[in-house]
Amino acid sequence: MDGACPAGTAPVMTPLEQGQLIILVAVEPALAGAVRAAALERLRQDASAEFTVVELAEVEAANFVTQQMDSDAAPPLVIVGRQLRNEAALVRSIQALAFKGHLFLLSDPDVQDQRARVAHLPLSGMHWSILNIEQPGLAELLAGAAAQCRQRYGLQRNLKRANRQLQQYHKASPQLEPRAVLSDYYLTSFLKHSNDAVVALDTQQRVLYWSSGAERLFELSPQAAIGRPASELPCWSEAITAGLLSAGQDKGTVAFEAECVVAGEKKKTESVCSPVHDDLGRFIGFSIIVRDITAREQRLEAERAAHLRENQWLSSERQYLRTLFRQAPGFIAVTRGRSHVFELVNDAYLQIIGHREVLGRSAVEALPEMQGQQLLTLLDHVYQSGIPYTGSGIAIKLQRRPGAPLETRYVDFVFQPITDKHGAATGLFWQGSDVTEHKLTRDKLSLHQKNLEQLVQERTSELQTSQLALQRSQKLEAIGQLTGGIAHDFNNVLQIITGSLQLLQLDVETDNLPTQTLQYLKTAVDAVDRGRNLSSQLLAFARRQPLRPVPLNLNRILRSMSGLLRQALGESVELDAIESAGLWNTLVDPHQLENVILNLAINARDAMPNGGKLTLETANTHLDELYVLTQPDLPAGQYVLLAISDTGTGMPAEVMERAFDPFYTTKLDGKGTGLGLSMAYGFTKQSGGHIRIYSELDKGSTFKIYLPRSYEAEAEMPLAAGGPVVGGTETILVAEDDPAVRSTAVSMLQGLGYRVLQAEDGQSALSVLKSGAPVHLLFTDVVMPGPVSSTDLAAKARALRPDILVLYTSGYTQNAIVHGGRLDPGVELLSKPYRREDLARKVRQVFENRTALGQTVVEQDIGSLRILMVEDDISTRDAVCELLAYLGHQVIGVESAEAALDRLAQTSFDVLLTDLNLPGASGHELIRESKLINPDMAVIVASGLGGETSIDEHAVQIRLTKPYDLAALKSALRQARAR
Ligand SMILES: Nc1ncnc2c1ncn2[C@@H]1O[C@H](COP(=O)(O)OP(=O)(O)OP(=O)(O)O)[C@@H](O)[C@H]1O
Ligand SMILES: [Mg+2]
Repeated sequence: MDGACPAGTAPVMTPLEQGQLIILVAVEPALAGAVRAAALERLRQDASAEFTVVELAEVEAANFVTQQMDSDAAPPLVIVGRQLRNEAALVRSIQALAFKGHLFLLSDPDVQDQRARVAHLPLSGMHWSILNIEQPGLAELLAGAAAQCRQRYGLQRNLKRANRQLQQYHKASPQLEPRAVLSDYYLTSFLKHSNDAVVALDTQQRVLYWSSGAERLFELSPQAAIGRPASELPCWSEAITAGLLSAGQDKGTVAFEAECVVAGEKKKTESVCSPVHDDLGRFIGFSIIVRDITAREQRLEAERAAHLRENQWLSSERQYLRTLFRQAPGFIAVTRGRSHVFELVNDAYLQIIGHREVLGRSAVEALPEMQGQQLLTLLDHVYQSGIPYTGSGIAIKLQRRPGAPLETRYVDFVFQPITDKHGAATGLFWQGSDVTEHKLTRDKLSLHQKNLEQLVQERTSELQTSQLALQRSQKLEAIGQLTGGIAHDFNNVLQIITGSLQLLQLDVETDNLPTQTLQYLKTAVDAVDRGRNLSSQLLAFARRQPLRPVPLNLNRILRSMSGLLRQALGESVELDAIESAGLWNTLVDPHQLENVILNLAINARDAMPNGGKLTLETANTHLDELYVLTQPDLPAGQYVLLAISDTGTGMPAEVMERAFDPFYTTKLDGKGTGLGLSMAYGFTKQSGGHIRIYSELDKGSTFKIYLPRSYEAEAEMPLAAGGPVVGGTETILVAEDDPAVRSTAVSMLQGLGYRVLQAEDGQSALSVLKSGAPVHLLFTDVVMPGPVSSTDLAAKARALRPDILVLYTSGYTQNAIVHGGRLDPGVELLSKPYRREDLARKVRQVFENRTALGQTVVEQDIGSLRILMVEDDISTRDAVCELLAYLGHQVIGVESAEAALDRLAQTSFDVLLTDLNLPGASGHELIRESKLINPDMAVIVASGLGGETSIDEHAVQIRLTKPYDLAALKSALRQARAR
């Protein structure tokens, strides 16, 4: 900022270069000293090098400004100090200069004063402002003011130039009235600042005026443009020429869009072209206002593209929504108005109503079958009340195909009113789903559930029944145990009595006793008979009867019994037998079964005092798993049924409950023992069957006896012991521990002509045998005290005397010779108590059987074999040993492989008969070891395992499959002998 000079000294008026600005500061003398210096310093510092700060005295200021105004330089900025002597005069003189610069009034600290000052100064028409020299951004403020001044000045200059040109033109056209064309300040300013290009053309379309907007837009300076024919301008386009043409001289304003290329860049313009006429209406050229709309167009284009994109998105969105609506899983329909005209429906809706035209139709037209149904009424109600309705599982009847019958569908749905802005209903929205399948399944399920509940109830009551049955059978089992024990002792007692009585009777035949005594004797004998019957029934109930079951057909039993039954029933009872054809066989003791049938028939007769009908019926039947659940120890399977029904009094529940209990009777004292049904019960159970009562009071009762099916062919019915009572002369050894029983037996046998030896237990019987006495028959009690059991005794007796016969007697048979309720094969038994005739017949029968069997033995089993029998089950071992002894072999039974090997080491055997499953070492190991000891010994394997055993085939020569009978055993022994 050179050239500043202190106030009061004459400034050096150096002509300033164009564009340079001068700042004049008229400083009042009062603003002296430090304040003035500080102000100047601030200006100098803040103003850039662009400015020259000149300090002038008040009086010099106006002149200096005049000089600067006249120059072609940029207009000055003037800063007027405070408290000048004649501030107003200074300002006025500056104003008079048509001052183009900017006047700053240095601010007063006092704002009130400032206002007063400004009010008094002639500032109109000038650009002025108040300047606080201390305010920040002073340089920018000054630069801004300077730039504005420069702009204004430039405009003014251009206008002046234009005027000059016009004046020249007017001078050149004398017909035109010379006219001073002076643009005023604001017009110039408007044109200069207009963003649009303003171009004036003369009548020849040469450029007259080229605004700075045109310069910016077309990047072409006025100097380059003015005077040239417009069509030669590089930015010109055919569109502008066409625009001019259509504007013509008189045609008025034309607007058009065109494109031009400026500096290689395409620009889009919008032009307004007007013919210009002077005040006299003469055409003097064109005015063209060109606006650059490139950016706008680009924006519009972008907007259009965005709009298009949005439209596309909307339309795909709409499409998507339409698809969603159509495919919605539930049904949707929209109806309009109070007659519910369908406007929209989706696929699910069409599906449920059966695909018919509904759009545009009212609900009644579209779904005529709905008339009178609840749904239509509901629609009206929802429409009128405006209250939505939700229905669940509502049944509707629809005709889903033309001509088809009405079909009931169940729906869950909501009817929702559609309202206008005032809340009035305009239509309805139906939405819901077809729940028919669901409902039907649910109905079925609930039905099943009910059935299930019923089933559970039934099963529960069955369970209770079976528990009762179990308790009952457990009770009967317990009583049976007790009864069996009593019967055993009772039989021994009876045996003594019966024996003694019979011997007495024999004596009586020789002595002549009074009739009265004979009568007493007979009564006693009858009483013993009754006792024997009782005891046998008790044994039957206790399932301790030694049964001899044979495969037979019930029909045949019934036929054979018909005479007996008719007799027992009497004339007032009709007998009917319904025999099932193709009836299966069953394995049962025929004599005991006959007893049961007779007992039941007599019970029936007693229940029909006024006569009635007894029906015996047989059938094949199957007891299933469910049925046998109620019966302990009863396997499911095939059974032969015998039903015995009467038309009698029937039984009340409490009688049925106890009917099988021993000694339970409803008959008068002495009329019934209450053992008939107990015996029937014990017998069927012992035979592997089942008995059941069905009874209804005053209607009658049915007893159903189920006996297991047998696949064996029917056997000959063994004849009941009978025939003449004959004795013999053979020698019989009686082994019996009870002396009284023994003595009666001995006496009876002696009475029959036999030679009789006796022993009180097994040990002494063995001694008798060993003594060499010739004994043909050993008659032994089954249960005997001492170390030698009856079966041991029998085996040893046979070992000593291979041809000896054995007859057992017992009042109670459990293990020794009866297995599974049946006598072991080949075993002869006479049950206690027996009568003299029974004993006589049985002894003869045994001798006669021997004759037949003995011949066979002689034929097939010459010479005895030494057999080692290995079996851990003691009962089986005893039974088989006895059989083998009976067949004339020498046999030793042991319970394990270890014991067998011990024996083998001591004695030589011809045959090893062994079980495979042994407690210690197995049968396989035994066979291997035994072969090392005695390679010549034959081996018979008796196994219940069947063919699955994996023993060494060479080691095993002979097989016996359990259970085996006498024939199988004999055959195995024959094979052994052959080796
Ligand atoms: N067919 C039947 N009709 C009605 N009640 C019967 C029938 N069979 C048996 N009862 C009832 O069962 C009870 C027991 O029968 P059970 O045969 O065990 O003995 P009982 O007939 O009384 O005597 P017993 O058989 O020794 O002559 C009978 O007293 C009777 O009340
Ligand atoms: Mg009875």
